[in-house]
Amino acid sequence: MSKPSYPASLSWDENAIVTLDQRALPHESRLLRLATVDDVITAITTLAVRGAPSIGLAGALGVALSAYAHCRSGVTGAGRQAVHADARRLAAARPTAVNLSWAVDRALGKLADGPDAVLAEATAMIDEDRAINRRMVAHAAQAVRDRCPQRPLRLLTHCNTGRLATAAVGTALGTVLALAEAGMVTEVLVDETRPLLQGARLTAWELAAAGVPHRVCVDSAAAAAMSRGLVDCVLVGADRITERGDVANKIGTYGLAIAAAHHGIPFIVVAPESSWDRSVVDGRDIPIEERDADEVTTYGGLRTTPRGTRAYNPAFDVTPAPLVTAIVSEHGVRHTCEAVA
Ligand code: MRU
Repeated sequence: MSKPSYPASLSWDENAIVTLDQRALPHESRLLRLATVDDVITAITTLAVRGAPSIGLAGALGVALSAYAHCRSGVTGAGRQAVHADARRLAAARPTAVNLSWAVDRALGKLADGPDAVLAEATAMIDEDRAINRRMVAHAAQAVRDRCPQRPLRLLTHCNTGRLATAAVGTALGTVLALAEAGMVTEVLVDETRPLLQGARLTAWELAAAGVPHRVCVDSAAAAAMSRGLVDCVLVGADRITERGDVANKIGTYGLAIAAAHHGIPFIVVAPESSWDRSVVDGRDIPIEERDADEVTTYGGLRTTPRGTRAYNPAFDVTPAPLVTAIVSEHGVRHTCEAVA
């Protein structure tokens, strides 16, 4: 397995956020410079920057951009108000991943100490995310080994939970990579992840860069793959986890969990503590982002449905806790429902 050598997903460079434009992948590795709060909001809403931890870090750096724009020569009442208004807009850019509002609030908490303090907090969060990634992946790889004694492993994953979605190796995909590096993975099945193809475009790109054997499948092939014995374990990330362990994640995750439970296949969620929202108990209370109908009714710029066809396009779904075998964070296994496994 070779080590990938592309830039970190987010960094700060002379009053701007530099990030890989995930919309252009896998065809083009294009860097974006986000110099204003509006740039950051557009990048988040159009999924140039995506994945729960990454949008949180972009949001925190966005607060730093605002602080420099409005409070460079001191934190005045008007400046403070302007930064708070920007922070609210940043936090609302995407409603489901709790990491975004959590990170924005944390950066905003330093505003009284000035823009440098806000930036220091945001960049500290990037460093923390790197360390959290490493700890989480070690725990999650162990959780997989404990539940899948058979070797070598056929893993299935959904959406993109790798380097692009975090500051380092990722969550679920980071775990896949760690297991592959340990020589334990025969193949990864990658759900293409309709409608924006984060699996086909991004996860396949990351796995190819790391030299991990993989095949992409349409989302609706996942249950069939399980029934044919092609999957030993499902690994996914999360955008928000409730007090009782219900998990919001990319649309299609719930169906995977049902299929995995039916086939007695471990279904493991890997996500940092910042994805837990203890103020919510029932996953049905998580706000679910609904996106533009065009994402479903067109493909590659061409209409695939009769003109005027409406679409139901939720970006996320909620998997109830009893369907989740284990939720793993940087602190280890945080929730289990081993009866399913
Ligand atoms: O709409 P996206 O691509 O931002 O959705 C991302 C996901 O659902 C990921 O699984 C989740 O954010 C975890 S990323 C480590």
